[in-house]
Amino acid sequence: MEDKNVVTMEKLVNLCKSRGIIFPGSEIYGGMGNTWDYGPVGVEIKNNIKRAWWKRFVQESDNSFGVDAAILMNPKVWEASGHTASFSDPKMDCKECKSRHRADNLIEAHSKGKVNPDSMTQEEMQAYITEHEVHCPICGKFNWTPIRNFNLMFQTSRGVTDDSTNTIYLRPETAQGEFVNFLNVQRTTRAKVPFGIAQIGKAFRNEITPGNFIFRTIEFEQMEHQWFCKEGTDVEYYEDFKKKAWEFLKDLGFDETHLRFKDHDKLAHYAKCACDIQYLFPIGWSELNGIHNRTNYDLSRHEQYSGKSMQYTDPVTNERYTPFVVEYSIGADRLMLAVLSEAYDEEKLENGETRVVMHFHPSVAAYKCAVLPLQKNLSDKAKEVYNSLRKNFMCAYDEAGSIGKRYRRQDEIGTPYCVTIDFDTLENETVTLRDRDSMEQIRLPISELKDYIENKIKF
Ligand code: GAP
Repeated sequence: MEDKNVVTMEKLVNLCKSRGIIFPGSEIYGGMGNTWDYGPVGVEIKNNIKRAWWKRFVQESDNSFGVDAAILMNPKVWEASGHTASFSDPKMDCKECKSRHRADNLIEAHSKGKVNPDSMTQEEMQAYITEHEVHCPICGKFNWTPIRNFNLMFQTSRGVTDDSTNTIYLRPETAQGEFVNFLNVQRTTRAKVPFGIAQIGKAFRNEITPGNFIFRTIEFEQMEHQWFCKEGTDVEYYEDFKKKAWEFLKDLGFDETHLRFKDHDKLAHYAKCACDIQYLFPIGWSELNGIHNRTNYDLSRHEQYSGKSMQYTDPVTNERYTPFVVEYSIGADRLMLAVLSEAYDEEKLENGETRVVMHFHPSVAAYKCAVLPLQKNLSDKAKEVYNSLRKNFMCAYDEAGSIGKRYRRQDEIGTPYCVTIDFDTLENETVTLRDRDSMEQIRLPISELKDYIENKIKF
C-alpha cells in the first residue's frame, strides 16, 4: 500500500483555509461546530466533482434521469421512510460536565477499535459501558445518563404557529425525493424498468460527534442514484453498482490500494444487503459511499402511507409489481475530502525546498490553467490570452511575485497547467506550458492552447 502518512487532517485544513478552498463556517463569530464554507477555489472543485458524478451516472448512463426535489417534504414522507421512528443515534450525557456522546463511539474508542458496536443492541452497549467503566473523554468522570435514542433529523415549523402539527423536517437524505417521484419520472420519460433516478442536493443531520473537517457535517450534499428493478434482478444490479461506484473512483484518480469494500454488519431497517466503499482517509479507513439493496421497502411504504399505488405495469407482460431499489449514495463533501487527501503531496525538490502539490485529476481542478506574464509589462498580451481561454474553462490569472512563487501557488491548488507569457510570445505567438505533475515545460502556439488543454481535462 502506498504511504499516505504525508497527509494529515491538520495539513489539509490549513491548506484549505489559506488557499480559499474551505473556511470554518461563521468564522468571525467563533465558528459553528461541524459547519464549513467553501471558498472560491473549493466551490469550483466541488462543482467539478458533482459534474463528474452527474456525467457518469446520468449523462452517460443508460436509462437514468435526474431530479431536483424539494428539501422540505410532507412530514408523512419521513413516517413512511421510517426516519421519524428510527433515524437515531444512541446518545449518553455526562452528568458531570454535561457533554453529549454517542455510546457506539465511546465503545469503539475504549476498545481501540477491537469491539464493533454496530452489531450491538442498546442493552449490550449499556452493559459494555458499565462493565468496562468507560469514562467521559472530556472530564474523565464515570457518571452517565442511560442511553437514549436521539433523532438526527432537524425540525423546523411551517406557518405562524410553532406547535407540533406544523413540524416539518430538513431532509436527512435526498433519496426520498427520488422515491416519491418514481411514477412521475417513469410516466414523463416513458422509461421501462429497470431505470434510475439520480439527485444531487443538500441533506441535514443533527450530528453530535466531532466532524473531522468535512467528513461529518450537519449540512452536506449527497449524490444519490436509485436503480428501480424487478425483484430477482436486484442481486445482480447490486453487484453491478458496486463495480460502477469503484470504477468511478478509480477514474477520478484514486489509487485502488486506498479503497476497499466493507459489508455492513448491522443492516438499516430498509436493507436486504449493504456495503460501503471505504477510503483510507487521514483519520483511517472510513466510509466514503454506500451501496444498498433497499428491496421494495420504500415504494411499498409510500404506497401504504400515501394511499397512492406505486406499482409499475410491465408494458409487454402487463405484470404489475413494486420494483426493488438498488441505491448508490455518496456524499459530495466526503468525496471532496477524499479527493483532497488523495491529491495532497509534498515533494522534495533538487534545491532542497519542499513543494506542496495537489495532483487532482484535471477535470476536478478548480482552474484548468493559470496565465502568468513573466513580467508585468507583458500583462496586456497575457490578459488577451487569459480572456480568450476563460471563455472555454476556468482560468486563473496571476502577475504578483516571482514566477517560481506563482507556480507554487498554482501547485498548491492543483492547477494542471501554467501558461507563461514571455518576450518570445510577442514575437512568435507561442507560450510556455508547464505541467503541474512533471513540472516539464513545452512550447506551444497560442492557437493550439485551448484544444491541448481541453483534451487533457476531460473526465
Ligand atoms: N440514502 C442512504 C443514505 O443516506 P448514508 O450511509 O446515511 O445513506 C450516504 O449516507 C453517504 O452520505 C455516506 O456514505 C457519506 O458519503 C454521506 N454522508 C452521510 N452522513 C454525512 C455527514 N454527516 N456529513 C457528510 N457526509 C455524510
